[in-house]
Amino acid sequence: SRSRRGVPPIRMAVRSNIVSVAPFLTKLQRDSATPLPVLRYVADAMTTDMRAGLATDGGSDLKMILSYVDCLPSGNEKGLFYALDLGGTNFRVLRVQLGGKQERVIATEFEQVSIPQELMFGTSEELFDFIASGLANFAKKEGGKFHLPHGRIREIGFTFSFPVKQTSIDSGILIKWTKGFAVSGSAGRDVVACLNEAMERQGLDMRVSALVNDTVGTLAGARYWDDDVMVAVILGTGTNACYVERIDAIPKLRGPESFSGRTIVNTEWGAFSNGIPLTEYDRDMDAASINPGEQIFEKTISGMYLGEIARRVLLKMAEVGDIFGKSVPEKLSTPSALRTPDLCAMQQDNSDDLQSVGSILYNVVGAESSLSARKIVVEASDAIVKRGGHLAGAGIVGILQKMEEDSSGLIFGKRTVVAMDGGLYEHYPQYRRYLKEAVTELLGLEISKNIVIEHSKDGSGIGAALLAATNSKYDHDY
Ligand code: GLC
Repeated sequence: SRSRRGVPPIRMAVRSNIVSVAPFLTKLQRDSATPLPVLRYVADAMTTDMRAGLATDGGSDLKMILSYVDCLPSGNEKGLFYALDLGGTNFRVLRVQLGGKQERVIATEFEQVSIPQELMFGTSEELFDFIASGLANFAKKEGGKFHLPHGRIREIGFTFSFPVKQTSIDSGILIKWTKGFAVSGSAGRDVVACLNEAMERQGLDMRVSALVNDTVGTLAGARYWDDDVMVAVILGTGTNACYVERIDAIPKLRGPESFSGRTIVNTEWGAFSNGIPLTEYDRDMDAASINPGEQIFEKTISGMYLGEIARRVLLKMAEVGDIFGKSVPEKLSTPSALRTPDLCAMQQDNSDDLQSVGSILYNVVGAESSLSARKIVVEASDAIVKRGGHLAGAGIVGILQKMEEDSSGLIFGKRTVVAMDGGLYEHYPQYRRYLKEAVTELLGLEISKNIVIEHSKDGSGIGAALLAATNSKYDHDY
């Protein structure tokens, strides 16, 4: 139906078809819009779902998992501790020598490797053997400032960033995999037992003293330096948040009261779904994912998915609207070909001709683009990232307002810190800006002055080691 006979293909094709692409952009912007009333609805729904999840297990999308972390690091922790971190694209091992209140962190060392793709789809043994052997190699290199007193076993804080039903501070059952992992033979098993068995196969004698989610590790790590930290949020491959809760505000918790009367609750907010504006691209991506119908909040706001949503938008614009000329660039049809860091890099291009947008499109998905096509690509990316940042901000407000409702004035009336970590938050300035914009709009200027949203870099590794220390099987001072 489009007439482009007799005109030089590139110029004219691009010009005439940009007109046909424009409605797709408008529809995307409309379907993913997050005006204030939508954000307010999401924040309130987050609060309501939190309460329902605290009332009964299975009472809401939010699992509100008890972390068994009732005691946060005080600064007095001393000695050598290890941490293991599994949960995203990388696997990390770390050791830290803690020196108590005066010296704090005497030394740290870490190693990081990316997780081979095939291990994400392999067996539980393969994955845990890989972790245990990484740990064994790392432990061998201990020396210098690191010192373990004679006769003691090395203790580990194990950050395992998937939904785990904790059964104690050092055990927990994997509920399900998220973030593209589909490892067989571990759902329903105690992940510490899986690690212990793998360590045994390696002949490695170490003990897990704390099993924690990455949000919980981040909260502990940030709290070590700042007593006002009450919430921790991860925005990386996946997303999640945890916070400090009063024991008496957890109806589903029966049993001995913890000493401090407070505990950390892991919300698993990635599974939240109430009131999120979704587009046809989200629905298609969800249907094609390995966990359809699950982790809807995560799929709209976290790093694993934003690039993929954009790819689907561009593919549609290429197929139906010829945004990149007459043919559809082949690579554009490959799932995950466009990644969130690519969107981020494109959004940093302030030049008039959007040169780097052009080269990213060419290098990453093989698309040749006119200036107007590049502008549309940037606007489409912005719509997706704006929704992500705004919704993440609304989620944070949902948590803060739940805490405030239960302890009037203790959250909004004083300095309260939200510790943030994860590659998406760390590296995407527009995303961060949208997140903070939503928080400020929802809370108002006065209150939001008290809320400090702060990056806590790699806090989760040190945090897990600190929690191994506070939950050490030995006496604390040595
Ligand atoms: C996923 C996991 C959750 C983790 C988050 C961030 O949502 O289920 O446990 O905290 O990703 O890594």
